[in-house]
Amino acid sequence: MQNSVSGFSKFTKVEKIDWLISNHFQDNPSAKANLERYWNSNAALQKLHDEFTENTISNFYLPFGIAPNFLINNKIKVIPMTIEESSVVAAASNAAKFWMQRGGFKAKVISTTKVGQVHFMFHGEFSEIESLFETIRPQLFEHTKSITKNMEARGGGILDIKLISKTAQLKGYYQLHVTFETMDAMGANFINSCLEQIASTFKTCSKEIHVVMSILSNYVPDCLVRAEVSCNVEDLVTDESYSGREFADTFIQAVQIAEVEPFRAVTHNKGIMNGVDSVVLATGNDFRAVEAGVHAYAARSGSYSSLTHASIEKGMFRFWIEIPLALGTVGGLTGLHPLVKTALELLGNPSAKELMEIVAVAGLAQNFAALKSLTTTGIQQGHMKMHLLNILNQFEATDKEKLQLVEHFKKNTVTHSAVVEAIEKLRA
Ligand code: MEV
Repeated sequence: MQNSVSGFSKFTKVEKIDWLISNHFQDNPSAKANLERYWNSNAALQKLHDEFTENTISNFYLPFGIAPNFLINNKIKVIPMTIEESSVVAAASNAAKFWMQRGGFKAKVISTTKVGQVHFMFHGEFSEIESLFETIRPQLFEHTKSITKNMEARGGGILDIKLISKTAQLKGYYQLHVTFETMDAMGANFINSCLEQIASTFKTCSKEIHVVMSILSNYVPDCLVRAEVSCNVEDLVTDESYSGREFADTFIQAVQIAEVEPFRAVTHNKGIMNGVDSVVLATGNDFRAVEAGVHAYAARSGSYSSLTHASIEKGMFRFWIEIPLALGTVGGLTGLHPLVKTALELLGNPSAKELMEIVAVAGLAQNFAALKSLTTTGIQQGHMKMHLLNILNQFEATDKEKLQLVEHFKKNTVTHSAVVEAIEKLRA
C-alpha cells in the first residue's frame, strides 16, 4: 500500500523523520525544521521524553501556568495548570481571589476505593460457579501476595473479591468484581497485575471457565471527593449592578438548568473539566481515565447531569461539587517528568487524597467563574480579552503593536473582525 511502512519502530528518530518528510511532506524542509525546533537541547532530558512513548519525533508544548491565591482547608495554594485554552487560568485565579475573601474552599475525600474486574464466561449452573468461587477464593488472595506485599505495607491492597452474575444482561457472562485501596498510587499497573494473577488462578478451578479479559475500571464512584464554598448571600455582591440575592438566584438557576438539561450539562461539566484536566495533566496523571470516570458518574442516574450543585439555606449560599477522581502522587509519570515533579512540589508534595481535594477545588472554581460570567456579563467579554493575544499572534503583531492594541481593546469590545480592523488601521 502506498506510504505504508514496516519496521518503523526500529528506525532511529532521524530515520523516522526522514521517512515522514519524504513520504508525507513532499520533502518539504520546513516541516522537518519545525519538528526539530522543538527538540530539547539537553540530550538527557530529550531522551527521557522520547522514551515516555513510542515513535517520538518531537515534543508538543502546552502552557504550564499557575493560579495563585487558592485558600483550601485554610491553607493557601498555588495551583499548577497545563492548558492551552485562553482565560481558563485567569478564570481560576479570579475565582480563587473571590473565595479567598469569603472563607476559601473546603474539600474532603469521601472514599478511595478502586475497582477491577475479571470478565469471564461460564455456561453451567450458578450454584456450581458459586461453589467453585468460594473454594478457590482464599487462593485468589494467596497467589497475589507477591504483588500486594509492598502495597499492603503502605496500608493498601485488595479489599474484596466478589462473584457477580451478569447472565441477565448477557448469557453466560460473570465477573470477579475486585475492590482495591492503592494509597498514593493511581494504581493502574498494580490493579491490572493483581487481576491477571487472580484470573490465572481462578481459571484453574474449571475448564468451563473462559476468561475474556482482566482490567481495572475507570469508573470509580467510590473514589469520591467533595469540594465546597459558602458565604452569606449578601457577601456575593462584587459591584453595584446586582444584589447578592439576585446574583445567587440566577446562579442557582444556571446550576439547576445543568441538572435537568443534558445539552447544557455537557458544556457546564466541560467547563469544570477545564480546571480538573489542567491540574490532572500538570501533576502527571491520566486525564483520559479521569474524563471517562467523571462523565460516567455525571450520567449515573440514567440522565447526564451537572457535577455541581448550589443552594441557599438560612441566608447562606452554598456551591459544591462531588466528583470521582482516581489520582496518584507516586508512580507513573509523577517521579519521571521534571515539570510534574515541580508541580507536585509547588503543591507541597500532596498525598493522593490531598491532590483529589485540590483537583476538585480547581473544577469547582472553574465552574464558579464560568457561571459568574455567563449569568452577569456573558462569557465573551473576558474570553475575547484573553484571546486577543492569540489573534494578534496570528497576525504576527510585534511587541509594540501588541502593547498599543491591548491598550486600545481595554476600552473597545474584542471581536475577531474588530482586531483585524485595528491591526490594519495601525499598520496603515
Ligand atoms: C469553555 O471552555 C467553558 C464554558 O463553556 C463552560 C460553561 O459554559 O459553563 C464557558
